[in-house]
Amino acid sequence: MKPYFITTAIDYTNGAPHIGHAYEKILGDVLARFQRLRGREVFFLTGVDQHGQKVQQAAEKQGISPQTFTDEVSQYFLKLWEQLVVSYDAWAATTAEKHRSVVKNILSDLVARDWLYKASYSGHYSIRQEQFLTDKERGEDGNFGPEWGEVVFFEEENWYFRLSHCKEWLLQFLEKHPQFVTPDFRMNELKNAAAKIAGDLCVSRPKSRLAWGIEFPFDPDFVTYVWFDALINYISFAGYGSTDEKEKTHFEKFWPCNHHLIGKDIMAPAHGIYWPCMLHAMGFADEQMPQLLVHGFWNSRGEKMSKSLGNIVDPKLLADRYGASALRYYMMRDIVMGRDADFNEERLITRFNTELSNGLGNLVQRTLSMVHRYRNASPKSVTLSDSFEAHQQEDLAAIKEYCQQMEASQVHAALETIVNLLYRANAFVDTTAPWKLAKDPAAADQLDAVLITLLQSARVAATLLLPIIPVAAEEILEQLNLEPLSLVGTITIPELPHDYVARQPTPVFPKIVLEEN
Ligand code: MSP
Repeated sequence: MKPYFITTAIDYTNGAPHIGHAYEKILGDVLARFQRLRGREVFFLTGVDQHGQKVQQAAEKQGISPQTFTDEVSQYFLKLWEQLVVSYDAWAATTAEKHRSVVKNILSDLVARDWLYKASYSGHYSIRQEQFLTDKERGEDGNFGPEWGEVVFFEEENWYFRLSHCKEWLLQFLEKHPQFVTPDFRMNELKNAAAKIAGDLCVSRPKSRLAWGIEFPFDPDFVTYVWFDALINYISFAGYGSTDEKEKTHFEKFWPCNHHLIGKDIMAPAHGIYWPCMLHAMGFADEQMPQLLVHGFWNSRGEKMSKSLGNIVDPKLLADRYGASALRYYMMRDIVMGRDADFNEERLITRFNTELSNGLGNLVQRTLSMVHRYRNASPKSVTLSDSFEAHQQEDLAAIKEYCQQMEASQVHAALETIVNLLYRANAFVDTTAPWKLAKDPAAADQLDAVLITLLQSARVAATLLLPIIPVAAEEILEQLNLEPLSLVGTITIPELPHDYVARQPTPVFPKIVLEEN
């Protein structure tokens, strides 16, 4: 099986992460963990975008150097991902020397092959927003509005990447490779953006305006435009351009990336236009192009999260308050892949209480208590009769459905499959009524069969939840004293070991009770 390479976007380190950043890391982690369970070798790369205007400005405000500032903020990100048990294989921090030298080599190679050229541009420039303005930014009266502050007209030299040379290639590539972007409804948006490519891409900033970036190796008055630098992380931290044999082999093994997991705001132009064109110019063949997996946005109280609206949702606060499992579960459950959702703390609590606490927690608790009460922790192995066999077949069908949904990155649907499985298992307890069977000596075998079937269903549910809530799912498997099922190759539900002994249950999902205020 081809190894699986997944990345997330690298986050700007100009401030603390919000719930949208956490969502993307968790989603990447869930997909990476699932593929590992399938027996696939996985390379999960994530990290921080440390250069650029935003970081420089934030550092200036605090009166410290950009490196000190970005190091501190990056530490905060690292700690939070640890708290949320994000299991990445490599950490991309763009100020790392390894990355900087790859970026420089790429620039030198591109200029040698005439993909970069220097030119001067004149136009209106907003001092406050530190950007050139076009006619689009003019108000109805033809002037630039007060939001731009002081606007001056000036001329500036810069380095340009021949994006316009790639336009025809890109349009054809998109036409021939519909799998380049998932969900497929994003392709139109991308084709429209590609059709609008008009000029070249400015890939430098004069140091006089922005000093915090990767210096041009052949023109030290300039630093690299932050996106041109940031996108390269996907290859520099995978081993591209390294002289080390091990790193080179690593790159050849994992590239092309299966999933660049990104939010919808950075698909066009950055990941859908600039990135494939940059790779094309570097000499990557069409079959060596990565694929994009685009997710939607978490909003807050129906609106886009923003500092000015004061509706930023803080993942650290939620993880402290409810724990990583509750937050991870909610974020994977309450959004449809590719679509937007509204963050709602009450729904987080409801999902946790009804599905994890009542659904899974209760099933494990009841099953283990009965196994102890009626069978002294060791049910006798019996041949399952047809009705129990049918229940187990349904569990098997659910595993297959779940795997297909996860392969298609439809995590919300895979969770729906698990919730249905739990519902069926709890209903099975009610219909078979083990407490009645326990009173009837003639039903002894049947009681064993019921308990074994329930232990197996709990084991299936815990296995399938391993990628989503790894810590809690492992705790449940511990209590069940069972290995997770293998999801490698053909899937079966093996019988319990001969010397099986259940452990004592302890609640894994204590109900969240809100204090009255
Ligand atoms: N630094 C760039 C990415 C460079 S990748 C080569 C960047 N950083 S970011 O911090 O602004 O965003 C990081 C990721 O978080 C992006 O994929 C972005 O789409 C995602 N999200 C930002 N806000 C979000 C929500 N409200 N909801 C979900 N994801 C969100 O862009």
